[in-house]
Amino acid sequence: MSDALILGIESSCDETAAAVVKNGREIMSNVICSQIDTHTIYGGVVPEIASRKHIEVIVQVVREALKQAGTGPQELDAVAVTYGPGLVGPLLVGVSYAKALAYGWKKPLIAVHHIEGHIAANYIDNKELEPPFLCLIVSGGHTHLVNVTDYGEYEIIGRTMDDAAGEAYDKVARAIGLGYPGGPKIDKEARGGDPEAIVFPRAHIDGDEYDFSFSGLKSSVLNYLNSCGMKGETVNTADVAASFQAAVVDVLVGNSMKAAEKYGSKKFAIAGGVASNTALRKAMEEACAEREIGFYRPSPVLCTDNGAMIAGAAYYDLMKGSFSDLSLNAIPNLKLGERV
Ligand code: KG4
Ligand code: ZN
Repeated sequence: MSDALILGIESSCDETAAAVVKNGREIMSNVICSQIDTHTIYGGVVPEIASRKHIEVIVQVVREALKQAGTGPQELDAVAVTYGPGLVGPLLVGVSYAKALAYGWKKPLIAVHHIEGHIAANYIDNKELEPPFLCLIVSGGHTHLVNVTDYGEYEIIGRTMDDAAGEAYDKVARAIGLGYPGGPKIDKEARGGDPEAIVFPRAHIDGDEYDFSFSGLKSSVLNYLNSCGMKGETVNTADVAASFQAAVVDVLVGNSMKAAEKYGSKKFAIAGGVASNTALRKAMEEACAEREIGFYRPSPVLCTDNGAMIAGAAYYDLMKGSFSDLSLNAIPNLKLGERV
């Protein structure tokens, strides 16, 4: 078969993104228009504002992605879009626009699960990676440990029982006055702190060794901050950031390695916004090296939301001839492994 070019569109949260990817692995363009500056003043993403911003820029973002790829619509093999999970308004902007493009250009439409997109980001930066492998997906909305048995085939091994890892980062960052988005700010602040300064809890779920829980850790940080306030002690923000991060990383790496041992897996990948965290990347790399497990991670720009990962995941649907029609709708609470 000749080369397959796919346009991928992503608008599930606060990034309007479009990319053209060749054969699921080679980026021709990857345009990301972030709304972070707009939402920073509110301390988090405001869904209604996010929807409006997506509408304002999506046409230019797609146009720019085609221009940078040096391709016209007729050379595309498919239009792919994230249809869930995510914020319903933002998702609808991408889904509606992708449907219009597919109809107007007479191209197949491919509906992509956002988390499948995060996993597929690994195929772009690790050309040799093929299933089966285990993958830890850690983002603002999700914390999943999955066994990727084949392209587009997943078995969920563990998940968070409450907050997602990125959500915990964002909430703790707000509490220690670092603001939004919390993940990158804590990552940076922690570099100047002592990860052993404060011992925060590492939650383990009874009976389910691969599940996660971060709300207790978040409460513990809040209690620590309150007790410092009551005693009139100044808080060392860098120490709190480093100690909180150490607790998150310990649990993520611990459960991941338990799963790798149980499944006898020799390949382990990470994905999602939190996968760009420097401490997590380092700890995971070391833990995998100790066990002679191949470690895979996307470059930081492909960890956070982007269109290339959507086009990358869609390639395997194109190969299977798995297309959507114009009745495609946004599904805000779409589960992993569920196809609608
Ligand atoms: O994957 P993503 O862009 O969007 C979702 O699908 O949720 O992930 C965003 C999340 C946010 O919670 C953000 O704080 C976190 O990823 N994040 C990080 C880092 N960069 C982004 N968390 C920790 N360290 C980072 N360097
Ligand atoms: Zn995401």
